[in-house]
Amino acid sequence: MKVLLIGSGGREHALAQALRRDPILEELHAAPGNPGIADFATLHAVDTDDNPTVVALAKELAIDLVVIGPEKPLVNGLADALRKAGIATFGPSAMAASLEGSKDFAKQVMHDAGVPTARSFTCSTKAEIEAALDTFGAPYVVKHDGLAAGKGVVVTEDRQIALEHAYLSPKVVIEEFLDGPEISLFGISDGTTILAMQPAQDFKRAFDADAGPNTGGMGAYSPLPWAPQDLVEQTLREVLKPTIAEMRARDTPFIGLLYAGLALTSKGLKVIEFNARFGDPETQVLLPRLKTPLATLLYQAATGHLLEAAPLDWSTSSAVTVVLAAEGYPIAPRTGDPVTGVSAVKEAFVYQAGTALADGTLYSAGGRVLAVTGVGDSLTAARLQAYEGISTITLRGSHYRSDIALAASASDKVREN
Ligand code: AMP
Ligand code: GLY
Repeated sequence: MKVLLIGSGGREHALAQALRRDPILEELHAAPGNPGIADFATLHAVDTDDNPTVVALAKELAIDLVVIGPEKPLVNGLADALRKAGIATFGPSAMAASLEGSKDFAKQVMHDAGVPTARSFTCSTKAEIEAALDTFGAPYVVKHDGLAAGKGVVVTEDRQIALEHAYLSPKVVIEEFLDGPEISLFGISDGTTILAMQPAQDFKRAFDADAGPNTGGMGAYSPLPWAPQDLVEQTLREVLKPTIAEMRARDTPFIGLLYAGLALTSKGLKVIEFNARFGDPETQVLLPRLKTPLATLLYQAATGHLLEAAPLDWSTSSAVTVVLAAEGYPIAPRTGDPVTGVSAVKEAFVYQAGTALADGTLYSAGGRVLAVTGVGDSLTAARLQAYEGISTITLRGSHYRSDIALAASASDKVREN
């Protein structure tokens, strides 16, 4: 099988590595890719926002399956263009990707499908915004309707900050605050059938103890030893299956990865958000643990054959990933500094994200520069490996959290007894 992978981040690096492990894979191409992905794939420097160019590339390479990593090309209709050209594609249509691209659309789908989520109002006027804020009270949760690259959501005790954030967008969703731990749970769907992956947890704040601004994600781990036994079953039943059925009923079947961001609240499980693609950095802990051949699985999803797929096969190991962020990330990341020590990391795996290669030297080229994943018999062992790995990498002014999976690793000992 010849596969073309779209994207250039740590998520795509993990996808490339996992696709490569599948014996069915003959050729792996990536557009645009990054210096880490180049170890697994042939890179093509094309503009992935230009749908006709990507379709032409896929045809020229006689690609059997295109896997789309990031949300932007999905919302931009790349999957539609590829399918129209008869190319099997893992990734939802622009309409189906609205589950991520429009908070208001996601709320409507959840409402119609009976999926548990925070109560909300969609507002366009000052009067509506004020009324909604006062209905729910503090802490206020204000979300811009469209894609906002992680900057669209504000959670604040300060009514003035909530108002100012709301006024920045023509359409906002204002909703009740959800308490309790957050979990990411991904489902792989062919539009009719959906298979749940194992849960992971992401650390969204920039600094230790969940201090600092929201980021794209500073680290992750899987599995979650503290999660309820029936979490996956419950999420399938209450969230993933009804959402897929609703999208199908609307004639916009969701073919690709449905990412459910969940809160385990005191009133039960609720959806915080949907994304229409693999999460980053959760993918860097999930795929190293997935034993099911990935190219075969994603091809089955892309071609409507998931019902025939075997149940997902997971290793019993634990994985922890820690993100190395550039100085100033997430507000104003500094780029263009040399990154050294990547090849000295032996036990852990380094997934590159914001990197560029020039004259044989690796440079920082984005806010989240790379992620180091450790895999071990326990979260404690996996953490140790990830932190040992990241400590050998140097990048001027960079920072990483020291508490990824720290609290959860305490459950290792409980499990052993
Ligand atoms: P989203 O882009 O919807 O995932 O929001 C980003 C982050 O804001 C989430 O990961 C949560 O930490 C937080 N958040 C979003 N919605 C809520 C909510 N209703 N209650 C509490 N926190 C929220
Ligand atoms: N891990 C958060 C995201 O992928 O959006």
